[in-house]
Amino acid sequence: MNQLVQTSFPKHRVTDDPNDSNALPAAYYTSQSIYQAEVESIFFKSWIYAGHVSKLKNKGDYITCNVQDQELFIIRATDNTLKAFYNVCKHRAHTLLKGEGRALVVTCPAHNWAYSTDGSLRSGPGLDKMQNFDKSLMCLSGILVEEFAGFVFVNLDKDASPLKDQVDGLLERILSYVPNPEKLVLAHRQTRPFTANWKSAIDNYLECYHCKSTHKVLCELVDMEGYSTTPFGNWSWHSGPGFPAPGEEPDAERNGGFAGAHLWPNLTINFVPGRNDEIVLIYTVPVDADNCINVMEFYMPSTELSDDAKAEIDYVCNVLTEEDIALIENVHRGMKSRGYYDGRLVVNTERNYLSEHSLHHFHNKVLKAIGAK
Ligand code: FES
Ligand SMILES: [Fe+2]
Repeated sequence: MNQLVQTSFPKHRVTDDPNDSNALPAAYYTSQSIYQAEVESIFFKSWIYAGHVSKLKNKGDYITCNVQDQELFIIRATDNTLKAFYNVCKHRAHTLLKGEGRALVVTCPAHNWAYSTDGSLRSGPGLDKMQNFDKSLMCLSGILVEEFAGFVFVNLDKDASPLKDQVDGLLERILSYVPNPEKLVLAHRQTRPFTANWKSAIDNYLECYHCKSTHKVLCELVDMEGYSTTPFGNWSWHSGPGFPAPGEEPDAERNGGFAGAHLWPNLTINFVPGRNDEIVLIYTVPVDADNCINVMEFYMPSTELSDDAKAEIDYVCNVLTEEDIALIENVHRGMKSRGYYDGRLVVNTERNYLSEHSLHHFHNKVLKAIGAK
């Protein structure tokens, strides 16, 4: 075990060796100042999921979104490229766009300044008669935007490398399950606030050590003995085969079960092997150190839901997620106990469902991002 790491952050015992490491200390899950450091160093510097290209097909189509307290909009510009901007007028800071819709000219509701879809200021009442006023200096502030597997991501860090360069191998993995993710549409969306730190929700996804004790039905659908998880740089892969039908051979890739990816920092992309027309996004929106919103989005071929799809949505939203949230909220209360500092990560060489090595990978990424390691 490494020596305790002494920084201005609380001491941690997260080593470089997953086989001999503790988890992040409780203080990292409860401190508002660490949360603020995470917002600056993680959420304002990473690629954050914002929506799906099905909402941005035609010139002028736009969606709005938030990265923490920053309001943004993404628009299909008249040159057919995607552009993203802070959703704030350069005159006196009014919000420009609400919800989603279509605007070939973005007009501020406050005093009617009008912007082109490339962010340049076109006109505004009285501006032609202004002295010493250079319209070209009044462009909207742009941010990075990228489409990846049909999903749209933004990054507030102008110097960020492209998302596709940060997730080597992920696109191929997604397309091997769902070949045309850009053709799907949002068929169902459900949000669920909960009382815990955002990292506890990600921790929960990254290990299935809790699955046998927590998810009775899941363990009837997924063979935990074949479940494995593999961390890569900015993403990790998690999968377990279904149980074969009588007379069939087990096939981890195609016969049901579960497969999914965690994409740093807060998105998970989930599949049912063998079902090539559905992706379930589950992501955690942090509110503060103690509160989050769990968002579940079901992307399917149509908004018309089959009975099977309705049953699956009901199970994921009302059974599986509730089981996880009960555990996560309980753990968050424990993080505030004076009887707990940090815990030892359970890791095995098989890297199977009993192993928490992907948490170790995630905890190291968090510490490095905020400068605590
Ligand atoms: S704040 Fe937008 S036009 Fe004045
Ligand atoms: Fe779970």
